Parts: sequence; structure tokens; C-alpha cells
Amino acid sequence: MTPQHIELVKATVPVLRESGVALTTYFYQRMLKHHPELKNTFNMDHQETGRQPRALAAAVLAYAEHIENPTVLAKAVERMTTKHVSLNIQAEQYAIVGEHLLHSISEVLDVPMESDLIAAWKAAYMQLADLLIGVEKAKYAALNTENGGWTGWREFEITAIENLDAAQLFTLKAKDHSAIKTAKAGEFISVRVKLADQDLYQPQQFTFDTDQAEQYQIVVKAEENPTAFSVNNALLQHYKVGDLVEVSAPSTL
Ligand code: HEM
Repeated sequence: MTPQHIELVKATVPVLRESGVALTTYFYQRMLKHHPELKNTFNMDHQETGRQPRALAAAVLAYAEHIENPTVLAKAVERMTTKHVSLNIQAEQYAIVGEHLLHSISEVLDVPMESDLIAAWKAAYMQLADLLIGVEKAKYAALNTENGGWTGWREFEITAIENLDAAQLFTLKAKDHSAIKTAKAGEFISVRVKLADQDLYQPQQFTFDTDQAEQYQIVVKAEENPTAFSVNNALLQHYKVGDLVEVSAPSTL
């Protein structure tokens, strides 16, 4: 990035931050309209509550603010990349996010896409995207070499469902019966299910209280105010022993 790029980007961070919801809402609506297949990747429940929409744009703004000293954000980068790897995010998807984010910035700041300002934001976004892509590549490579590790979604069979107080305990075993990475207490997995009535896959994270070796056991609780995209409610209402779900390898946030 040139010094002018840095100046331009830093000068507009406060305006974009103030626009808050406008930037993020516009961005997600635009991206999901052009790429409806991404509705399978993002948790649409989180979209409705506004949790995730704010996280992505806020991270881009925070990065832009510290563009000269990105190491300040090392912890945030660690968290984002772990989450992304757990959701099987791929390098080529960064171009899609970038395109729609830049269009949204252009819209919110009311400047043309061809302006120097958008060129500066493009340079900033690409710098961040390259950083995340590099860290994610290393994490995918490490998962492939670990005992029982894997990348992306792996099929698991529900082998038992037991009643707990106000929840159910689902036991998941790898369909291919080969080794699975041990999950330590505090680690999480993403579980992806098909929502039959939405014709959509949806992911959800589940954290373990105890170490898990040959199988993973997740506690599934009914949501108090479920939307049509609730993974917990889909599991409780539509899934039974013998059904398959998709699981990504355990990691720590
Ligand atoms: C520079 C670009 C990006 C930034 C700064 C970014 C930032 C973030 C942040 C801060 C979170 C929340 C992490 C947490 O749970 O603490 C997140 C989650 C997520 N990101 Fe990204 N991200 C970027 C690119 C992408 C791309 C390319 C995709 C795929 C199309 C993607 C998909 C997701 C998904 C699906 C989640 C989880 C959302 C949820 O829980 O509903 N992100 N990202």
C-alpha cells in the first residue's frame, strides 16, 4: 500500500464505523443476493440476530485502523482463521467478499467505484485477505498431517441420542470408521445439517466439556426463540439415530 492509500483508508474508518449497520446490512444483502449459495456457509440465524454481520465488517475496519501495525490484531486473526477453517472457507471466496464489501463502502461513502478512495480500500482489503488466506492455508495443512485430522466436512453418523435435563446428547461417529482427531475439553467442532424445509445446509458450533477420543458427543438444546434456520431445533426435531451430519475437525477459539 502507498502512503496515500493508508491516509485515505484511515481517514474514512470513522465514517464507516458510524454507519455501522448500514455498511454491514448492505454488504450481506448484496453478497447473498449475488451468491445465494453462500447461504449454506453463513449461519442465517446469526444474520437475523445481526451478530455475525457486525463481526466481519468490524474486523475489516479494525484492521484498516491498525494498517501500519497489523500485529496488534494477532489475536483477532487467530480467532477469525480458526473459525474460517472450521467452516471450510476457501481462498477464492475472499474475492467475492472483497467485491461486495468494496461496493458497500462505495455506496455508504457515496464515492464511485473508480475513485482513489476505493482503490485504497481495495489495497487494504487485499492485504488483510492475503494475511488470512496464508494463515488458513497453514492451518489446513496442519490438520491434514495430524493423527485423525481432516479438512472440510466429514460425514458422521448419529449413533445415539440420550435425554438430558432440558437437552439431548447426540453421539457422532465417523462414517468411514477411521481415526478422528481427539478433541480436548473447551475445543469445538462445527456441525452442518441439511434443513429440509429450507433446502439449505446450515453450520453450528458445539463446544465440548470433556475430552473426546473415538466419538464426539454434543449437547443439543432447544432455542428459546428459534428462527427457521436453527440447527439445534433441526437436530432435535428431524434427526434420528442412523442419520448423517457433517463435521469439521475440532479446534480451539
Ligand atoms: C478479509 C476478509 C474477512 C474478514 C475480516 C472476516 C472476519 C470474520 C470475523 C471477525 C468473524 C467472526 C469470528 C468469530 O466467531 O469470532 C468471521 C466469521 C465468519 N466468516 Fe469471515 N472474514 C473474512 C472473509 C470471509 C470469507 C471470504 C468468507 C466466506 C465466504 C467468510 C465466512 C465467514 C463465516 C461463515 C463466519 C462465521 C459466521 C457465523 O458464525 O455465522 N469470511 N469472519
